[in-house]
Amino acid sequence: MKVLIIGGGGREHALVWKVKQSEYVKQVYCAPGNAGIARDAICEDIPASDIKGIFHFASRKRIDLTIVGPEAPLVDGIVDLFESNGFPIFGPSEKAAEIEGSKVFAKYVLEKNDIPTAQYQAFSEFDEAKRYVKSVDLPVVIKADGLAAGKGVLLCDTREKALAALTKIMVDKAFGSAGRKVIVEEFLQGQEVSLIGISDGEHLVYLVPSQDHKRIYDNDQGPNTGGMGAYAPVPFIDNGLLERVKKEIMLPTIQGLALEERPYRGVLYAGLILTKQGPKVLEFNCRFGDPEAQVILPLAKSDLVEAVMAARDGNLKDFRWKNHKQHAVCVVIASGGYPGSYEKNKKIFGLEHSFNDAFVYHAGTKEIENDIVTAGGRVLGVTALGKSLPEAMQKAYAAVGRITFDGAYYRKDIGAKGLL
Ligand code: AMP
Ligand code: GLY
Repeated sequence: MKVLIIGGGGREHALVWKVKQSEYVKQVYCAPGNAGIARDAICEDIPASDIKGIFHFASRKRIDLTIVGPEAPLVDGIVDLFESNGFPIFGPSEKAAEIEGSKVFAKYVLEKNDIPTAQYQAFSEFDEAKRYVKSVDLPVVIKADGLAAGKGVLLCDTREKALAALTKIMVDKAFGSAGRKVIVEEFLQGQEVSLIGISDGEHLVYLVPSQDHKRIYDNDQGPNTGGMGAYAPVPFIDNGLLERVKKEIMLPTIQGLALEERPYRGVLYAGLILTKQGPKVLEFNCRFGDPEAQVILPLAKSDLVEAVMAARDGNLKDFRWKNHKQHAVCVVIASGGYPGSYEKNKKIFGLEHSFNDAFVYHAGTKEIENDIVTAGGRVLGVTALGKSLPEAMQKAYAAVGRITFDGAYYRKDIGAKGLL
C-alpha cells in the first residue's frame, strides 16, 4: 500500500515511523512533513489545512490509505471529501469530528448520554455569560467553543480574570469565530490521563493510557502549551478503572454519536481527569494526541495499519491491540519563548549521534543547506523505552542532553508524576 500521513509535527513523525513498519506498506508519503519525516517518507509541501490540495495529491499518487494527524482538516471535512470521491481515508467525518470542533456539541453528547463531566453552562451572549460568571463559584474554567490551537481554555481563579477571559473570547474575538459561544465550567481537580481509542463506529480498541504535561514549566507551572512531554503507561489507572472508563465514557460516547447519526470511525481521544468522584471527561479530540502519540505508538506491538483497515471495515470487534510490556517517556524540546513568541531558524546540533536507545521525532524542523534548523515552537520529541519508568526517563534525558540549539528549552520532570 501507499499510505499518506497528513501533518508535520512529532505526532506525524511517530505515525510515519509506525506505519512504515507495517507489512502492508510499501511507501509512506507525508504532507507537509518536516526535516525528520523527510528521512522516512516522501514529503509533499502542502499544508494540512489545504484539504483540496491534499486530495488532488492523493488522487494523483493513487494513495491507498490516508491517515490524518491534526484536527483542523478533520473538522473541515477532509474525510467527507475523500470518501465522496471513493478515496480511502481514516478519520471521523466532519459531523463526527465536531466532538472536538465544538465544545458545546461535546457537552451536549456527554450530558445526553449521562457521561461524567464538569458542570457547565453554555453562552452565546456576552451579557448573559457575564451575569453568570459574576455569581459562579471560583475557580472557574472558560472555554471557547471552537478550535483554538490549544489556547482556548482559560483557568480563572478570580472574578476579574474570568470577566477578562470572557471579554477576550467574546468581545475581542481573540480566537475569531471559535469564540462565538463559550462554555463556563466547574474547575475539577485530579490527575489527568489521555485515553486514546480507535473506533469502527461501534467497537473500540484502546491504546495504552498516557499522561501529557501541558504546562510549560516544571511542576505544572506557567501557561498551557500543546504538550511538553508524555509517558505511558500511567500508574494510577489500573485495569478496574480502565474498564470503568470504557463502560462509562468511551462506549457511551461512540453509541451516543451513532444515535445522533454521526457514526464515529477514527481515533477518539478522551482527555480525562481522575476526580474523587471518579473519572470525568475534560475534552474529546478527534485524533491522536501530540506528544501522546510519541509514547503510545513506540509501545504498540500491533500493526496500526491493520487496525485502521479493520476500523474502516467495521471489523474491530475481535481485534486485539497488543503493547510491548515496557514504559515510554517522551521529552519535548521547544524553542525558547514558546508558547509565546519565539525565534526560528536556529541550527540544531547533535542529531548526527546514533540514538540507539531513543527515537528522535521531529516536530518544528526544516532543512536548509544540509543544516537542520528550528521551524516551530515544539521542535523535537525525544522518546525512550525502558523496563521501568525511571529507566525510560533516564534514557530519554540522556538522549535529550546530546541535542542542543540556541534557546532550547525542555521540562526536567517528565514522568515524575508517575513515580508513585
Ligand atoms: P482542554 O483543551 O479542554 O483539555 O483543556 C486544556 C487543559 O485545561 C486541560 O488539560 C486541563 O489541564 C485544563 N482544564 C480544562 N478543563 C478543566 C476543568 N474543568 N477543570 C480543571 N482544569 C481544566
Ligand atoms: N497533547 C494534547 C493534545 O494533543 O491535544
